[in-house]
Amino acid sequence: MTSHALLSELPGYGKLRALAGELRSTSIDRLFAVDPDRASRFSLAAAGLKLDFSKHLLTDAALEELLGLAQQSGLPAAVEALFDGEHINTTENRPALHTLLRATTSCGLDGKFEQVCASRALMQQWAERLNNGQQRGFSGATITDVVNIGIGGSDLGPRLVTEALRPYHGNIGCHYVANVDPADLQDTLLELDPETTLFIVCSKSFRTEETLTNSLAARAWLLNAGAAESDLDRHFIAVTSNLEAAAEFGIPADNCLPMWDWVGGRYSVWSAIGLSCAIAIGWPGFEEFLAGAEAMDGHFHDSPPQGNMPLLMGLLEVWYSNFFQAGNHVVLPYDNSLQRLPDFLQQLTMESNGKGVSADGRALPYTSGTVLWGSAGTMGQHSFHQLLHQGTLLCPADFVLPLTTHTGMPEQHRRLVANCLAQSRTLMVGRSREAARQTLLERGLGEAEANRLAPHLAMPGNRPSSTITMQSLNPGTLGALLALYEHRTFCSAHLWGINPFDQWGVELGKEIGTEILGRLSGETGSGPMDASTEGLMREWREAAVRGCR
Ligand code: F6P
Repeated sequence: MTSHALLSELPGYGKLRALAGELRSTSIDRLFAVDPDRASRFSLAAAGLKLDFSKHLLTDAALEELLGLAQQSGLPAAVEALFDGEHINTTENRPALHTLLRATTSCGLDGKFEQVCASRALMQQWAERLNNGQQRGFSGATITDVVNIGIGGSDLGPRLVTEALRPYHGNIGCHYVANVDPADLQDTLLELDPETTLFIVCSKSFRTEETLTNSLAARAWLLNAGAAESDLDRHFIAVTSNLEAAAEFGIPADNCLPMWDWVGGRYSVWSAIGLSCAIAIGWPGFEEFLAGAEAMDGHFHDSPPQGNMPLLMGLLEVWYSNFFQAGNHVVLPYDNSLQRLPDFLQQLTMESNGKGVSADGRALPYTSGTVLWGSAGTMGQHSFHQLLHQGTLLCPADFVLPLTTHTGMPEQHRRLVANCLAQSRTLMVGRSREAARQTLLERGLGEAEANRLAPHLAMPGNRPSSTITMQSLNPGTLGALLALYEHRTFCSAHLWGINPFDQWGVELGKEIGTEILGRLSGETGSGPMDASTEGLMREWREAAVRGCR
């Protein structure tokens, strides 16, 4: 990300603060009352998705200023730089070319597109080989199950896509192991047969502790079941940019698919990192997934700012974060198969934008990187929606709603839809204290009791949300949805002045983790740590002696 003015230095910043102040005394409900066209004016469609952003504390004037902010920050040039493969990841001196991974044409870029096409061909071969029952394990039995071993970006995207697109699955069972907690691998292997299981070690670096530990345990599981060392190439594939480390582990180059340093882990589901989900949904399905993302890329690149879905969502994030101090964003997919969406988006947005300095190293004088959280509707309605409705924290929400169901149970799905629409409306309209009082009186309560309880039943309302709809959740709309959030993250990052493509903040924890592992394993270390950590290590040593009981 090239150096540019910080958000608070842009000419429109002060004006937006004033507008936000004015808007605090109005209500979204009132904005609808005075503008019969608001719902259609604050809606747009792209790449099979529709965004309704009318239920926001947003006027034409505020929107115009926000769009002005994007111009003042030089966003259009930054978008060009992203697609053109400029080294916008300045701290690592690399491009961030996830858009190339779903492109169907490209020129220039030093042969990178050709590398992508070659990788797609390999993915297709493996997906077809497995789905056609041609891959056999050490006993000669056909492989029936694939286990993806990876973490972070080498897990969350493929896992989400696999779970979200279950109606498109073929014959191969796809499973995911990420956590270094041995229970994750153990629980997964319980249902599997070593003779018919293939592991995909998914690690861009091939250095990630969790992934290597689980892969070694998976290897031992196969050897214990009777596989010979020479059989392991029938059971292991790697997706990595570190061929040497994969070879050291015992995975030959012929079983390796490439990854490149110009793709960030959290932006990599479109590459061979997505092999497991390509196997799950079959190659034609994976191509549709890529096509959905490519359609969103085209929309993002070509659309004018006022009709640009990722840009509008990025502006809304900045609007609430910096002018209303929301600091968080809740994503509520009303589709059970999208229950992993918040997990995926957490890495995408929080690893990208959880930064305290600008791309040129200046401390940010404002909030950046909102906390993203959420769960599948209607589950949250029976846990945390209370806070959304009546809490003191402002939680701008995205409702994600496929309009039809693959289940063949449209009546039950209608209830899901009704709940989704009811929640966004309730958040917006709330209920006045007087309306609450009247409700209580109608229920037969006396005046005094109604007055006492009314404040507890009153709902402030005026809680903003967007609703993203699609005809159905299919590979294309899912691809578009994930690309939408990628570009939203890019836009917010640009406005905050952040480089969203590095993640230095995860390094120190890994180093200290290695040091503590050494101490737990009997090494002395270079001197005592803090008293709390020393005490916890002592506690673990004592518990380890007592054993698990
Ligand atoms: O530790 C964070 C991280 O580097 C993520 O950015 C990445 O997605 C994940 O670890 C896994 O990395 P790898 O694919 O190299 O194993």
